Amino acid sequence: MADNIYPVSTLPRSAREELLGQHGMMIWFTGLSGSGKSTVALGVERALHERGILCRVLDGDNIRTGINNNLGFSPEDRRENIRRIAEVGKLFVDTGIVTLAAFVSPTNEYRQLARDIIGADDFKEVYVSTPLEECERRDVKGLYARARRGEVKDFTGISAPFEAPIHPALTIDTSKQTLEESVRQVMALIIP
Ligand code: ADX
Repeated sequence: MADNIYPVSTLPRSAREELLGQHGMMIWFTGLSGSGKSTVALGVERALHERGILCRVLDGDNIRTGINNNLGFSPEDRRENIRRIAEVGKLFVDTGIVTLAAFVSPTNEYRQLARDIIGADDFKEVYVSTPLEECERRDVKGLYARARRGEVKDFTGISAPFEAPIHPALTIDTSKQTLEESVRQVMALIIP
């Protein structure tokens, strides 16, 4: 970081939270491609919106095509992907917004980095544990088939690792429960 940077003081977070009448937090969804992270996050977004709670979903489609469009899937790029998402997410959380991040974030190290950037008090990890066989059966984007043929290298679950979280706040297997049930469980984390 440059040493001639002097961050300015903004209004306190509490002022923004008071204005909105809500508290910011980060719900961090981790799991394999096709496990249902974004689907659940979008369901929660709708449920929060209906309750008048301002929220924002960050997922691969809006981040990897925009701010992170120069990143691939090497370990270094994935780490940088997660670091930037966490920094952006921190701004949302600090604005008082309930933020839902849906990224594979395949290692405990990357997720710990996100937790450290955002702050443990504001960070809740949701493990979407849908088994690989089911994600591969769904193969919504056709990427598993391509990864099996060796056309996509370093594909998480096939040729790149995925580490299950150690102490997630919630674990959801979307092959065993309905979307409504998953949304209800995540909502209970946000509004106990
Ligand atoms: S992360 O590992 O850096 O957290 P991220 O969630 O942003 O990944 O992007 C994962 C999405 O990118 C997958 O759902 C899939 O659609 C696509 N993708 C393309 N190549 C790969 C790959 N090699 N490994 C995993 N996902 C990939």
